[in-house]
Amino acid sequence: MTKKQQAILYEMEAYAAMNNVPVISKDSAEVLVKACKEKAPKTILEIGTAIGYSGALMLLNSDKDSNLTTIDISIPNLLEAKNNFSKLGLNDRVNIILEDCVLALQKLEGRFDFVFLDGPVAKYADCLPLIIKLCSLEAVIVADNVSVVKGRLITQKPERMKRVSDKLLEFIEAVKSNPSLKSEFYETGDGVVVARYTG
Ligand SMILES: C[S@@+](CC[C@H](N)C(=O)[O-])C[C@H]1O[C@@H](n2cnc3c(N)ncnc32)[C@H](O)[C@@H]1O
Repeated sequence: MTKKQQAILYEMEAYAAMNNVPVISKDSAEVLVKACKEKAPKTILEIGTAIGYSGALMLLNSDKDSNLTTIDISIPNLLEAKNNFSKLGLNDRVNIILEDCVLALQKLEGRFDFVFLDGPVAKYADCLPLIIKLCSLEAVIVADNVSVVKGRLITQKPERMKRVSDKLLEFIEAVKSNPSLKSEFYETGDGVVVARYTG
C-alpha cells in the first residue's frame, strides 16, 4: 500500500465518522485483513460496500491481480465508493452491483475465494446458502456484526431488535451446523466469524 493510498483510507475513515456511515471497526478490520492476507484471494465478494472502505482494505491486502465484486443497495454510498476506488487507483479491479443483496446473490455467477458479509444482519441467514454456492473450494467467508448483544443491535427498538437477533441466531446456527464450514468466532468489535468452506 502506498502512502497516498494510506492517506486516502484515513480520509475515508474521517468521512464515515462525520457522515454516520457504519464502516468496519479497527478490531474487526484486523481480523479481516489477517484472513485476507492468509488466503491471498484472486476473487473477492463483498455484501455491504458502503463507501468502499473494507473493499479497499481487502484489495490492498491481497494480490495485485485480485478483483472485488461488491453489492450495496444505497446509491449515495455507491457513488462515494466509486469515487474512493477511483482515487485509490482500484476502479478497474472493482465490479459494483447496486441491488438488494439477496436478489443480487441469486443472479450472481462465478466462484469467489474470499467473501466479506457486512450488509443487513437480518439478511445474513438468507445470504449464506447463496454465498456457499458461489464459493470456490477452501474459500474463506468473514461475517461482521455477528454478536447479538453488542453493537447496533442493542440500540434498536426491542421488537425490531428481537427479530434481527432471531435472524442472526439463525445465521450463527447455520454456520455452526454446516458440515462444509469450519468456523471460528471472535468476540472482537461487534463480533466476527471466519469460516472456511471445505466443500
Ligand atoms: C455496515 S455497512 C458496510 C460497511 C463496509 N463493509 C465497510 O466496512 O466499509 C452496511 C451496508 O449495507 C448496505 N445495505 C443495507 N441493506 C442492504 C440490502 N438489502 N442489500 C444490499 N446492501 C444493503 C447499506 O447501504 C450499507 O452501506
